[in-house]
Parts: sequence; structure tokens; C-alpha cells
Amino acid sequence: MVFTNVLLRVMRDQLAAADQERSVTRRKFVGITLASGAALLTGKPDMILGADAATSSNMATNPTFILGGDFTVNRLGFGAMRVTGQGIWGWPTDRPNALRVLRRAVELGVNLIDTADAYGPDTSELLIAEALYPYPKGLVIATKGGLTRPGPGQWVPNGRPDHLKQALDGSLKRLRLDRIDLYQLHTVDSKVPIEESVGALKQMRDEGKIRHIGLSNVDRGEIDRARKIVPIASVQNRYNIQDRASEDVLAHCEKEKLGFLPWFPIGGGKGLKPENPLNTAAKAHGVSVFQVALAWLLERSPVMLPIPGTSSLAHLEENVAAAKLKLTPEEWKAIGALRG
Ligand SMILES: NC(=O)c1ccc[n+]([C@@H]2O[C@H](COP(=O)([O-])OP(=O)(O)OC[C@H]3O[C@@H](n4cnc5c(N)ncnc54)[C@H](OP(=O)(O)O)[C@@H]3O)[C@@H](O)[C@H]2O)c1
Repeated sequence: MVFTNVLLRVMRDQLAAADQERSVTRRKFVGITLASGAALLTGKPDMILGADAATSSNMATNPTFILGGDFTVNRLGFGAMRVTGQGIWGWPTDRPNALRVLRRAVELGVNLIDTADAYGPDTSELLIAEALYPYPKGLVIATKGGLTRPGPGQWVPNGRPDHLKQALDGSLKRLRLDRIDLYQLHTVDSKVPIEESVGALKQMRDEGKIRHIGLSNVDRGEIDRARKIVPIASVQNRYNIQDRASEDVLAHCEKEKLGFLPWFPIGGGKGLKPENPLNTAAKAHGVSVFQVALAWLLERSPVMLPIPGTSSLAHLEENVAAAKLKLTPEEWKAIGALRG
């Protein structure tokens, strides 16, 4: 029942994402330039947070996270769902721009890129390979399998072992890799026990095709069931300052030291409600509310790995710059008191 609800929620959100993709107006670049993006993302903790902020025991200060015990990634990643065509379908209208966005993300120091076979389908992975292969050392491409796309705006779960095996082989081919560093089960298929889906991923890990396994759109019970089969490195659920239905899952990830990749980290393009603590902090720092939302997430938990998605170079630069934004403990608390 719980995972049926999770699934319904995911599918509703995926449809909403497709709609938003059509309706979001490209905002003009507001003029944030980065002298060195890599320095921003890998800066020392005391450069990421102000001295006063560090006194708050709740605020995370580490700029990196060790994924699965062996990959150090900068905590602000990139979500490559938005580089596809409208409705997360087909090729983008401006393909050279999509390639530029992917290359720029890496130039700016992003070394965790999230994608899925379902984005396009296939086109997100193909664009990543076209833009970035041969991949720079340390770049983690996290892809997913377990959702199929019969048409634009349609997302149908398939967690059967045979499908997952085919999906993984397709992703390896499109990404031109022998092994996927982080392979995530995109969702739990209500017709297939999670043990069977994850069991197939374990088998492929044993064959050397997967380095680490992640889950997406799961509840705490599902995480525990999966972890009985195979080690789990990360969880990807919807989460942002105004949507914290997965708060308990985040707490579980924190306790178990699993990476938590919040999708819709800035509200999925619906815009965050212009509530006061957000606007006030944005005005005080001369930044956008989206940057404040990302800074809040990064400070919310040391296991938080936001993967904001964009098809715009200007938004990408803005989002990456958020990694060095310092909220005061008062701002952080006031924003944290907001609920959707
Ligand atoms: N596991 C799952 O089921 C699941 C579901 C959805 C998404 N995801 C993953 O999570 C990633 C993030 O989710 P998302 O892309 O849907 O949502 P998001 O990052 O919260 O929001 C992306 C939307 O916001 C806009 N945007 C981005 N940066 C902006 C900025 N600085 N100012 C104003 N608007 C901005 C984008 O439009 P522009 O293109 O115009 O910038 C896009 O419409 C995806 O890329 C994907 O990798 C996973």
C-alpha cells in the first residue's frame, strides 16, 4: 500500500514535470559568473559556511560526500533529465546547447551527474556520452532503470529482472562504459517484490557491470528490505524545502550514511512559493530564491546530494554558485520552518 502510494505520487510528479518542462519560461541570466567553479564546489568547509553558521550543530559543513565508501563527490550534482526534449521526450530543440550545459557542469566542478534510461528515453544518456566521453577522472554518472516510456509524459514501472538486465546493458552501451558507478532502481514496481528487482541488480554487480546500487522513490521499509539483499549506496526521493514528505527517509539515510539525492530540489520548475524567509534571505544575499533553496538543502544534511536540473547555462551557473552561499543560522532556521 505504501509503495503503491509512492508510485502514484511519482507518476503524478513525472507528469507534472513534463508539463512544467513545457511551461517554464527561460529566465534571463542574472549575471553570476564564476572565476573557478571547481574551487567553489571543493572549497574548504569554512569557505562554504560562515564562522557563525558553523556554530549551529544542525548545519552540514562538508562540501563533499563519499558515495558507497569509495567515490568522493562534490555534494552539488547535476540532474540531466532536463537536457532532453519537451515532456522529457526525444532530443532537445537546441542540441548544441544541451551539450554545452553538460560540459559546463563538469567545468564548474560537478562530478555527479544523474540520468536514467527513461529520460528521452535514451537521449539524456546519449548526450552525456557525446558531451563528455572520454570521461574525466572522478566523474560519477549515476543512471537508473525500472521505468519505461510508452510515450511523452508516460512513465510505466518495470522492475522485472529480465527488463532491468536489458536496461542496464542499454545504459552501458549508450554511456560507453563497462561499469556504471551508481545504478539506481528508478522506482519499485508494485507487481515485482523489491527483493527480485534488487536481486537482479546484485547479480549484475557481481558480474562487474555495476559498482554501487541506489534506490529511488522508496520508503524506509523498502530500503531495509533491499539492504538485506545487497549494500545500498544512495536513495533518490522527491524533497525540497516545501515538500518534505521524505523527511523520515532522509533521517534514515543520515543514520545509515547513505547518500540522499533529492529530486525536484528547487520545486521542479513550479517555482517555490514566494514565502518570506526565502525571499528575505535571497534579497539579503543578492541571489535568487532557487539558490537559497539549494543552499538550505546542502546545509540540511551532510548526506544531501542535490541534483538540480536545467537546460540553461545561466541557471546552471546560478545553481552551482549556490554551493558557496552562506545562510546565517537564523535564516536557515526560518526557512526550515516553512512547509509545503
Ligand atoms: N527519481 C525520480 O523519480 C526523479 C524524478 C524527477 C527528477 N529526477 C532527477 O532529479 C533531477 C532534478 O529534478 P528536476 O530537474 O525535475 O527539478 P528541479 O531541479 O527542482 O527543477 C528543474 C526546473 O527548474 C528550472 N530551473 C533550474 N534552475 C533554475 C534556476 N536557477 N532558476 C530558475 N529556474 C530554474 C528548470 O528550467 P530551465 O531548464 O529553464 O532551467 C526546470 O524546469 C532531474 O534532472 C533528474 O535527474 C528524478
